[in-house]
Amino acid sequence: MKNLMMGSALALMATALGGCKTPDASTGAGNTGGKTNTSTGASSNSGASGKVSRAKPYSHDDILLGEYASLTGSEATFGLSTHAGILMAVAEANAKGGVLGKKIRVQVEDDGGQTTQVPSVIRKLIDEAGVLAILGEVASSNSLAAAPICQEAGVPMLSPSSTNPKVTQKGDYIFRSCFIDPFVGTAMAKFARQNLKAKIAAILVDGDSDYSKGLRDFFTQSFQAQGGKIAATVEYVKGDTDFRAQLTKIKGAKPDVIFIPGYYTDVANIAVQARSSNVNQTLLGSDGWDSPDLFKIGKKAIQGSYISNHYSPGSTDPRVVKFVADYKKRNKGQTPDALAAVGYDAAGVMIDAIRRAGSTDRGKIRDALATTKGFPGVTGTITMDKDRNAQKPLTILQISGNGYKYVTTVKP
Ligand code: PHE
Repeated sequence: MKNLMMGSALALMATALGGCKTPDASTGAGNTGGKTNTSTGASSNSGASGKVSRAKPYSHDDILLGEYASLTGSEATFGLSTHAGILMAVAEANAKGGVLGKKIRVQVEDDGGQTTQVPSVIRKLIDEAGVLAILGEVASSNSLAAAPICQEAGVPMLSPSSTNPKVTQKGDYIFRSCFIDPFVGTAMAKFARQNLKAKIAAILVDGDSDYSKGLRDFFTQSFQAQGGKIAATVEYVKGDTDFRAQLTKIKGAKPDVIFIPGYYTDVANIAVQARSSNVNQTLLGSDGWDSPDLFKIGKKAIQGSYISNHYSPGSTDPRVVKFVADYKKRNKGQTPDALAAVGYDAAGVMIDAIRRAGSTDRGKIRDALATTKGFPGVTGTITMDKDRNAQKPLTILQISGNGYKYVTTVKP
C-alpha cells in the first residue's frame, strides 16, 4: 500500500485494478464487462459455508433488492440512516411506477455491525431471498467481507459509503457510489497543514478496521509529504473504553492536532477521555464520526473538531434542500445525516442502472452500473470510473453545538 500513496488518489486508482475476478460467463452477453484476472486469488473468500456458489437466475415478479446493514450494535445509526435513505429513494421510484414496469422492494438484513456476521447475512440474501442486487455496507471491513461472495455469485454489490480502496478491487461486480480514502486522507492532511497550520500531528487508529488503517496511512503520507511530522500513532480497538495509555503517549508527543479516523461511538468516548485527561488539541475526524449519537456521547468534548464528510445538510443546492425537507417529513423531523444521503443516492444509482439495463439479467445490470454517468445525486454528481469508484467532492465540516458548520468543499 505504501508505495501507492506517493501520488494522488488518481494515481492510486490507476494502479489498483488487481485481483478482479469475473464470474463464469453463464448469464449471457451482459456478463462481459470488467477485467478478468484470476491470478491473485484475492477474491476466493469462501464465506460462511466454506464454499462459494453462483446465484440462481433472478425469478421474482417484482424487483427485490438486498441490503445488509448494521441495524444494531455500536454503529447502528450507520445502518438505520442508510436504510431510511434507501427506502426514500425506493418510495419515490415506486410512486413513479417503479422500474421495468415493476415495483421495487428492499429486504434488509442486520449484520450487527460485525464483520463475522456478514457472510451468512449475504448468503441469506443471495441463496434464500434470491435478490437481484445488493446495497451495502457502510463500514469498509464489512463490505470487504461481502464483496468476494457477491463477486463469485455474480450479484452486483453497490456500497453507498465504504471508502477503503480495497473494497472495489475485489472484483468487477463490486461498486461504490462514493469517493475513496486516499482522497480523504490527502484532503484532511492539507487542511491540517494549510488551514490549521499544524506542524505536528498524532493519530489514534482502530487496529481492527480497514477503514481506519487506510486513512492513517493516507493521512500520514500526505502530511509528511507537506513537511509535517507525525509524532505518535497509537492503536485502539473498537469497543475499548479505557484510552489512558494511548492518551499519555499522545500528550507526550505534543501534537498540534490529533487525527482520529474511527467510528462515532469509539471516537466520542476517546474525545471525552482526552478532555478529562487534559488533552485539549483540535481533533480531526472523518466520515465515520457522522451520527446523531456522536453528539449524545461526545457533548462538549467534540466541539470545534473538524471532520470530512459526503455532504452538508445545510447546503443551499436546491437538490439538497428538497432532499432534506422530504426526508424530514418521512422521518419525524430528523435531519438526514450523510449516511441517509449516500444511501438515497446509492439506491438511486442502482435503480437507474436496472432501468438502463432494461432487464433483470445481473450481468447486464453490472454493465449498466459500470457505465453510470452524471447521475444527479444529493451528494454530488455520480460517474463510475473504470475502477468502479465515484469521484465526488468532499465537504469539511466543523462540529458546533448539536450540528455542523460548513467549512469548505474539496474537489477531487
Ligand atoms: N467510510 C466509512 C468506511 O469505509 C463508512 C462511513 C461512511 C461512515 C459515511 C460514516 C459515514 O468504513
